[in-house]
Amino acid sequence: MRTPLATVRAQAEIIHRRLNKPEHRTTIREMIRAIDESSRSAGQLLDHAMVTFRADSLEHTPLDLVELLGETCARLAPTAELKDIAIKTNLPDAAFDFIGDSVLLQGALRNILDNAIKYSPEDSEITVSAARNGNYVLSIRDQGRGFGDADIQDLTSRFSRGSNVSDIVGSGLGLTIADEVARSHGGRLEISENTEGPGACVSLVLPQS
Ligand SMILES: Nc1ncnc2c1ncn2[C@@H]1O[C@H](COP(=O)(O)OP(=O)(O)OP(=O)(O)O)[C@@H](O)[C@H]1O
Ligand SMILES: [Mg+2]
Repeated sequence: MRTPLATVRAQAEIIHRRLNKPEHRTTIREMIRAIDESSRSAGQLLDHAMVTFRADSLEHTPLDLVELLGETCARLAPTAELKDIAIKTNLPDAAFDFIGDSVLLQGALRNILDNAIKYSPEDSEITVSAARNGNYVLSIRDQGRGFGDADIQDLTSRFSRGSNVSDIVGSGLGLTIADEVARSHGGRLEISENTEGPGACVSLVLPQS
């Protein structure tokens, strides 16, 4: 599904470049946005299906949560750079030893960081930290628009999106995925406003066993 959508998108971009009339260009831009929405939904639905499937037969592999978090930041750094967003990492030298499914955990962290980038303005900062307080707490704090008057608890429901993000493409599955991954590992997702200024703070909390 992703490949044909990418083909249609590329063709729409070519047509967009060739058109002169503003109303035609607007129509094609709307078409491209609809294609982006479809491919985002297709990707997120596949990821969500994978979480549901893997959660039933979770892989129990020894891993280091700090390393996993660092890798996720490195993978998304180019996307953040496109918006001149700096990802500041505040990670301990010591490993956070954990037994779990690295594919799922990385998917959860990727979705949390993806939101922080997507809902933050250009030239802002994202702070990524890892701490332990009996649990492992992996936090991603941004300086974006925050959750507004959205019901925070409801944002982890499938297809739930806030009312303050209609300008940005999304399918409402990212936090559902992160929440399900956390629960399947005996943990939880903590969603709150950034206490140090405007923006959001989302933490993946996992048991330190
Ligand atoms: N860092 C954030 N800043 C502000 N709002 C956020 C942030 N993260 C999540 N949200 C709000 O929570 C909603 C749900 O997030 P979620 O990741 O599940 O869906 P999405 O980003 O809309 O779509 P997608 O499935 O494509 O990620 C978002 O639509 C947005 O309203
Ligand atoms: Mg998202």
